[in-house]
Amino acid sequence: MTDAPARFGDLTGKTVLVTGASQGLGAGFATTLAAAGAKVALAARQTGKLADLQTRIENAGGTAHAVAMDVTDAGSVRAGFDAAEAALGPVDVLVNNAGIAIPKPFLEVTEADWDAVLDTNLKGCFLAGQEAARRMAKRDGGSIVNIASVLGQQVIGQLASYCASKAGLIHLTKAMGLELARVGVRVNAIAPGYIETPINAEFFHSPAGEKLVKGIPQRRLGRENDLDGALLLLASDASRYMTGTVVTVDGGFLLG
Ligand SMILES: NC(=O)c1ccc[n+]([C@@H]2O[C@H](COP(=O)([O-])OP(=O)(O)OC[C@H]3O[C@@H](n4cnc5c(N)ncnc54)[C@H](OP(=O)(O)O)[C@@H]3O)[C@@H](O)[C@H]2O)c1
Repeated sequence: MTDAPARFGDLTGKTVLVTGASQGLGAGFATTLAAAGAKVALAARQTGKLADLQTRIENAGGTAHAVAMDVTDAGSVRAGFDAAEAALGPVDVLVNNAGIAIPKPFLEVTEADWDAVLDTNLKGCFLAGQEAARRMAKRDGGSIVNIASVLGQQVIGQLASYCASKAGLIHLTKAMGLELARVGVRVNAIAPGYIETPINAEFFHSPAGEKLVKGIPQRRLGRENDLDGALLLLASDASRYMTGTVVTVDGGFLLG
């Protein structure tokens, strides 16, 4: 235990593993974490994209290492952590970011749809979170940051499985925070609102998308780097007295 002032967002010398780092928010998180001094393990299934990102981070002067990982498979998760730790040293921080959505009216959701979403968004965070926590508990502890969603707190149509998975992840965050505090592992979540990424840009420029943006109190979509403040807070020692919390980053969406 130290009474030294916590330095916000300083990750010098820390190893961070980011799941779902091959594109979208995860690739942005990895880049931000590397710029903050972390050695970043880039985990996902599309290893070609991970290798490209590793090169971009290294060219910018950072340290990164790509590892293949399917978060729905316990053996793959374990192998990914082994490969990350062999290359970069013990994982101090896990960012549980891998996630999918299969938008459909509730009456049309298949069992396979349901399983795919819950296996990736909830079971995946359990598997990677447990693997990380077991390793962190044997050392000096660590920090786990789960990427949830405002849709874990408030539902919208056509996304029942996604909303249920993110609500489950918020509760899992609290349950893990409660149990893991005694072994020095902190577990917190970020609940992003609507963040514009290449994948959803087209929707947000449609009439339905524009209407949705008008309902956000700040009257704009989030940008990927709007999440950096919460990420760097929860990943770094600056949040050392925080566990089991959900930091909402949504331009006021949940207030609307
Ligand atoms: N964008 C938003 O507005 C928004 C808002 C709130 C929350 N979120 C959350 O933020 C996270 C990232 O979203 P995004 O918009 O960046 O999505 P995205 O662009 O579709 O990226 C999803 C990432 O998850 C990975 N992934 C999917 N299934 C996986 C599996 N079985 N094992 C390992 N990796 C897997 C994908 O990599 P591979 O295909 O290479 O495996 C990809 O890198 C998700 O959890 C999402 O729910 C996003």
